[in-house]
Amino acid sequence: MTTSLKGKDILHGNQFTKKDIDAIIKTASYFEKELKKKDQVSLLKGKILATLFYEPSTRTRLSFETAMQRLGGGVVSMGSVESSSVAKGESLADTVRTVAQYADAIVIRHPKIGSAKEAADAVSIPVLNAGDGAGQHPTQALLDIYTIKKELGSLNHLKICLTGDLKNGRTVHALVEVLSLFGAKIYLVSPEILRMPVEIIARLREKGMEVLETSDLKEACQKSDLVYMTRIQKERFTDLSEYEKVKGIYVINEGLLKGLHKTIVILHPLPRVDEISPAVDEYSGAAYFRQVRNGVYVRMALLAMVMGKTVK
Ligand code: CP
Repeated sequence: MTTSLKGKDILHGNQFTKKDIDAIIKTASYFEKELKKKDQVSLLKGKILATLFYEPSTRTRLSFETAMQRLGGGVVSMGSVESSSVAKGESLADTVRTVAQYADAIVIRHPKIGSAKEAADAVSIPVLNAGDGAGQHPTQALLDIYTIKKELGSLNHLKICLTGDLKNGRTVHALVEVLSLFGAKIYLVSPEILRMPVEIIARLREKGMEVLETSDLKEACQKSDLVYMTRIQKERFTDLSEYEKVKGIYVINEGLLKGLHKTIVILHPLPRVDEISPAVDEYSGAAYFRQVRNGVYVRMALLAMVMGKTVK
């Protein structure tokens, strides 16, 4: 399979073509099948991935590190900001220029919007954006897309409800960009103060996407094939009293589920706080832990592709 991602940075959900998405899904699917037969696919033996996380993470960091090790490569990690020379005042550009002397690709998460691009501009090795503040989280969007394809069988002309913190949620900002390639109709359900940024909505509409904003979660879910729940991001609020007003406002629980059609798929990038009740985990369409697992296959695909490796 040929790839157009060799040597590329992965920075934004709007950078992909349908052909890219098709190649990523096929490559991830290949790795998923291979890992059912064996523990490792030695495609990146000798290569090193560096992970730089300036913000907390469980899934993104560990799945990238798992992906690299499943590909036979090695991982070096900066560890916590406090234990690195960032604590001494080193700039982002100097840190990534240093790390590029050791590694073949960099995965970075940082609280500032645009920081992954800033890092990518400073080095010639591929940089993968693992979340830049309230900006983008493109590798999450790709694992979401892979999960949606697996759960629903197709990506074309889906009706999708995105709910929770649509202002600060970088996962939804990236996902809607990818969904816009496939003619999706989206329902955006959020409190007034956490609406999807107007410039993102305007761009989606320019691309021909049908975007409907509402505050009625139940009605939006009843019209949708899939609901994508997100956490209200307490850490992005400057005024915690504003957070207190909106926390717990949208919850998927057994009561809501009873009023929905029986095949609705539920995704969440995780971590969750209280926005999906644990009882919902037993529902067959609750796919968020399958979504987590898919992150390994998709990140294997991305690492292999940016490092110029192809699979059958
Ligand atoms: N989905 C996600 O980005 O999870 P982490 O913050 O745990 O990496």
